[in-house]
Amino acid sequence: MPLAGFGLSRLVSAVRKLSRRSFDGSARVMQTLQETLQGIGVVKAFNLENEMRARMGASVDDVARAADRAAVRMALASPIADLIAGVAIAIILFYGAWRVTVASADAGAFFSFVVAMLMAYEPGKRLARVHLEMQAGLDQARMIYEILDTPATEAPRSGQPALRVGAGRIEYMDVGFSYRPGETALDDLGLVFAPGETTALVGVSGAGKSTIVALLLRFYKPQAGAIFIDAQDIAGVELRSLRENIAYVPQDVFLFRGTIRDNIALGRIGARRDEIELAARRANADEFIRDFRDGYDTEVGELGQNLSGGQKQRIAIARAMLKDAPILVLDEPTAALDSESEREVRKALDELRAGRTTIVIAHRLQTILSADSICLIEHGRLVTKGSHAELLAKEPAYRALVEAQFAGEEGQRAAG
Ligand SMILES: Nc1ncnc2c1ncn2[C@@H]1O[C@H](COP(=O)(O)OP(=O)(O)O)[C@@H](O)[C@H]1O
Ligand SMILES: [Mg+2]
Repeated sequence: MPLAGFGLSRLVSAVRKLSRRSFDGSARVMQTLQETLQGIGVVKAFNLENEMRARMGASVDDVARAADRAAVRMALASPIADLIAGVAIAIILFYGAWRVTVASADAGAFFSFVVAMLMAYEPGKRLARVHLEMQAGLDQARMIYEILDTPATEAPRSGQPALRVGAGRIEYMDVGFSYRPGETALDDLGLVFAPGETTALVGVSGAGKSTIVALLLRFYKPQAGAIFIDAQDIAGVELRSLRENIAYVPQDVFLFRGTIRDNIALGRIGARRDEIELAARRANADEFIRDFRDGYDTEVGELGQNLSGGQKQRIAIARAMLKDAPILVLDEPTAALDSESEREVRKALDELRAGRTTIVIAHRLQTILSADSICLIEHGRLVTKGSHAELLAKEPAYRALVEAQFAGEEGQRAAG
């Protein structure tokens, strides 16, 4: 019994480890599959088929190996138990025979003991096997519960008061933030976004512009200072109400599987057809949508492959238009559009930002020129703020940035 128990416990821990490995391996298989399919354009253009196949193969092999080894361990349980039991029975028979013949014990009692023991043996062996299978199953259940039990970092409805936006004045007060200890992303940042106006954030890549926006949406919490919207600290309001009041147009427009109508409707779940079409009209998107054979019911396809960059942007603008939030956050794409689509997108944006407090991370000269004020961000700090002309006149760092980032456009404008 002790020997069998010891052997079994070794098997149990080996099988548990293996079942965890095959679980992780399956997750890796899924991940490789998803990456390959989503990045199929890159995979093909860079001739990565063999590399991706090798990665997939490695993950699959890993799962197969773990599953094989677990099966071998499970199958071993029974022969090991048989062997130990056989030896034990031999010893008992030998000892019993010795007692009956030499020590003249009662032969009847000995035989009933042996028969009872043999009858108990089969169920005992089955119990051991059940135990082993149960442990492997329990471990997989445990892994699922580990995920289910992970607490949400923040409940969307927390019982905090809802944000009430009036004019839409946004103030950053001494905000400090770092993604990793020792690497400052925002450093004692003080900044005011005037209500109803458009403020452009400019600065070199890595200056902290996206971080400023991420903190407003409360994707992260500042480690120092606070952010106020109409004098309410955003850390103290209900997360859902905060995000309801901000329309966010990200740098890379993300379209979901479904029709164009479905994608615009995400701006406000439950919006009526005419509201969706009005939003599209105001986003300067109605015309090209109607040019598709299926109009608003055109499937955008996985990741929206069958739409141009400018069209995707206008759909994102229509989505924001439908949301009709008082605060607007735009992360302007860096990739240039052709001048025709550029004009269409710009018209849509001008319509969208009218009357809203707008923060735009600017990558285009035209955006800067049309902003009410411009903030130059450097190393997570506000260097200076003013109009394009003011900053050009007084701020050498701004002049240098404009020359580096927008020189081409400036030239085009002069030529045009
Ligand atoms: N998710 C992240 N994890 C760690 N560091 C980040 C992350 N996002 C940005 N950073 C770092 O924070 C700094 C500011 O980045 P970011 O706000 O993206 O600048 P910008 O938008 O002006 O290019 C950079 O040094 C960048 O490397
Ligand atoms: Mg950025």
